[in-house]
Amino acid sequence: MNLIFLGSPGAGKGSLAEKAVKELNLAHISTGSIFRSAIAEGSPLGQKVQAIISAGKLVDDETTIDLVRERLSQEDAKKGYILDGFPRTIFQAENMKAFSRVDKVIDLEIPDSLVLERLANRMVCRKCGHNFHMIRNKPKQDGICDLCGGEVFHREDDEETAIKQRLEVYRARTAPLIEYYRKKGMLAVVDASPTIDKVMENFMAVIGR
Ligand code: AP5
Ligand code: MG
Repeated sequence: MNLIFLGSPGAGKGSLAEKAVKELNLAHISTGSIFRSAIAEGSPLGQKVQAIISAGKLVDDETTIDLVRERLSQEDAKKGYILDGFPRTIFQAENMKAFSRVDKVIDLEIPDSLVLERLANRMVCRKCGHNFHMIRNKPKQDGICDLCGGEVFHREDDEETAIKQRLEVYRARTAPLIEYYRKKGMLAVVDASPTIDKVMENFMAVIGR
């Protein structure tokens, strides 16, 4: 099964994907996480995208499409995947048709008021990418990931100005994908406001599990 997770910044794409891939034995492919790892390594890709990501803008389509094409050609993606954060433009969606077939697109719906609260309090593990929330879901030990012992940090693009920029970019460039996939009969909407366990339950129902 090949799935796309759509949804605004902070909708919970990464958190749900982490749970869902374990349950369904799929590969979790997050373009944002791949870019953040490249930045941490200081690779040429990381150097190219660092300023763009900190500012909350989109990386150019060509770079992103090449990255996903290559990632989907790897062995683990053959068992099926959840694409978290790709495609993010109609151009990316159109180009993707040439190298992969998608079964369903899950749109995680959430009001902006919840997004700000979630992102301002989010902390992420630098090593395994697990998400924490500084009020509802703190790491047991300050700054250290419960799962892998990695360093837990606040994303640069989770500062207020960058969050606002990301929401604007989402509305202008990514939200049109909702209608695009609805017209193709591929869209399923999941309310992303309740607890993560409830969101998971609703997600499993819309994919017929
Ligand atoms: P990316 O990393 O994809 O960021 P994003 O889309 O802005 O989404 P987030 O990761 O911020 O949110 P999420 O929906 O995963 O929510 P999460 O589960 O963390 O992309 C980053 C950047 O990379 C982009 O801005 C762009 O520059 C670049 N990029 C990436 N893909 C690209 C592409 N295709 N083209 C061009 N550029 C690209 O949850 C958020 C918080 O809420 C956490 O604290 C979590 O613990 C909490 N939470 C989650 N679910 C719940 C729940 N149900 N109840 C309570 N709390 C919850
Ligand atoms: Mg994410």
